[in-house]
Amino acid sequence: MPFNPLEYPLSLMEPILISDASAWIGHIPFAFTLVQMMRPQSIVELGTHKGDSYLAFCQAVANLNLPTQCAAIDTWLGDRHSGTYGEQVFAELRAAHDPRYLGFSKLIRSTFDQAAGMFADGSIDLLHIDGLHSYDAARHDFETWLPKMSPRGVVLLHDTAVRADGFGVWRLWDEVTPGRPHFAFEHSFGLGVLAVGAALPDALARFFSDAQENPALIRNYFARLGESLVQTRYRQALCWWLARQQNLLNNWKLRTGQSVDQISANLNAAMTDGVAFAARLTTQIDAALVEDIRLRQQLQQPAGGAAPKAQSGQ
Ligand SMILES: C[S@@+](CC[C@H](N)C(=O)[O-])C[C@H]1O[C@@H](n2cnc3c(N)ncnc32)[C@H](O)[C@@H]1O
Repeated sequence: MPFNPLEYPLSLMEPILISDASAWIGHIPFAFTLVQMMRPQSIVELGTHKGDSYLAFCQAVANLNLPTQCAAIDTWLGDRHSGTYGEQVFAELRAAHDPRYLGFSKLIRSTFDQAAGMFADGSIDLLHIDGLHSYDAARHDFETWLPKMSPRGVVLLHDTAVRADGFGVWRLWDEVTPGRPHFAFEHSFGLGVLAVGAALPDALARFFSDAQENPALIRNYFARLGESLVQTRYRQALCWWLARQQNLLNNWKLRTGQSVDQISANLNAAMTDGVAFAARLTTQIDAALVEDIRLRQQLQQPAGGAAPKAQSGQ
């Protein structure tokens, strides 16, 4: 029986977290689907940053009520490609992660190499490698962790489609795929899915065989689902900026002695109906520009003179 998306409704689940800085968002629907296909005993991630990929794995495990043990490994300091970042990133991830997933998941603050000793050989079903993306680093991570993979093991490699800026995961991908069931998505910088064990779960074997037969269809299906999340992220960002504009305008009004009908610029209001929010804000900005001109003209008037009426911009 071919891979049937209707068997994997998790692909349509809303992610609990979409951060403002991840290239991984577009793969979240496949992450949900993969967990449903594999029902892994253990998931390990190398490179978590704000948690977009890792929290997606955890969300799927929690939703399916699986007995899976999960671990995320990162220094939470950043690297040459992701850039360095402050303590707030780890604090925000813990705030999202701990109340929901602490029962089956741990965040291990360490280098990948230092953490490797914590995992027995043959113990990991699903490994996501997303650390530094140079060829040497990716190859080193792959080789270090390959013995840890179980017979059902699947390795995910992110950024298989990026060939610029010293990224070399594509080269590793070309080296490790011959002779192993595999499939690579091309959207969201590429995600390689590689079976490294001899006992592939049936559902995953079906997925690989169908994906090889209909690569464009499978790629298009998950790219479309992923793109809808990327668009959600854009909408969130746009609404954040709209709410910020409303705040600036309100501050200006208050400082120039005008009344403010909407005291707090509310992100929820922008998210609920961004178009109505933007239209209302535009009307207010138009009125503010008129008022600004009137105030300037008033300043230029000799004492006692009346300021002329300013024209609306519309
Ligand atoms: C591309 S980001 C991970 C992105 C994340 N998977 C997501 O969904 O957005 C790479 C992360 O790997 C971490 N990292 C890179 N090399 C590392 C190493 N050798 N040991 C521990 N962490 C490392 C960095 O701190 C960074 O947070």
